[in-house]
Amino acid sequence: MRSVFGIVALAGLAVGRPAPEPLLLEARAVTVVDQETGFTFSETKAAATLSANIVFRIATPANVPAGQPYDIVLQVVAPNSVGWAGLAWGGSMVRNPLTVSYANGQRTTVSARWATGHSTPQAYSGATFTLLSKGNKSNGTHWQLTAKCTGCTTWTGSSGAVRIDPRDSKRLGYACAAAKPSNPSSPTSSIPVHDVYNYITHDFSAGANANFAALLTQNGISEVPTGNATLFDN
Ligand code: HEM
Repeated sequence: MRSVFGIVALAGLAVGRPAPEPLLLEARAVTVVDQETGFTFSETKAAATLSANIVFRIATPANVPAGQPYDIVLQVVAPNSVGWAGLAWGGSMVRNPLTVSYANGQRTTVSARWATGHSTPQAYSGATFTLLSKGNKSNGTHWQLTAKCTGCTTWTGSSGAVRIDPRDSKRLGYACAAAKPSNPSSPTSSIPVHDVYNYITHDFSAGANANFAALLTQNGISEVPTGNATLFDN
């Protein structure tokens, strides 16, 4: 486990792309404790260019009851050269929740979208986001989103109900564009098509938080999260 001291620590993030590897990658997520928000995240780095990564971090409640929906906290750290970064929770662009985030001055905007084809995704009401009071910022090199999502890990896809197992690894899709959204303060801003799309395998089990609800409270979110284990554990 290692600690991360905000996005300043990520100024040296740019790394070369790894050597060629087999198509079916093992999950390479690592556990990261974010000192600013207190959440333990599972982290996966995704290549935005040959020399820059987007960092996707996901925190889950520990001990989610089997089959139950659950909230997550998503943290995205992107170089300022990234105009928008998208995560496709079902591992492809079509018929699964898409989370798009972008810088908005010193703050960040997050947007829930859904695509029915390989064309501009529409707003999606099945996933809702609340920005945490900490962890949303930008500096001279990076911007960072930190938001709770209700509805990112369960949805109805092309083949019926889907639920991401919080104890397992899952292939996710991602995409990004250098060009910026036209109206960065709006979650429904139009976005330019991606320059890059690819896939990551994310280990959800590496981001479990026994004190998920308490951490949300510390970060300005007081409602009880969906799938909060403390509702069920005695
Ligand atoms: C302006 C909005 C967008 C347009 C016009 C668009 C268009 C397209 C097109 C035409 C392809 C097929 C490319 C090919 O076959 O070579 C594609 C693939 C893909 N897009 Fe998008 N896209 C948009 C937004 C997004 C967003 C927000 C995401 C979120 C992660 C995303 C994720 C992907 C992924 C993962 C693929 C790979 C194919 C797949 O897995 O379905 N796209 N997109």
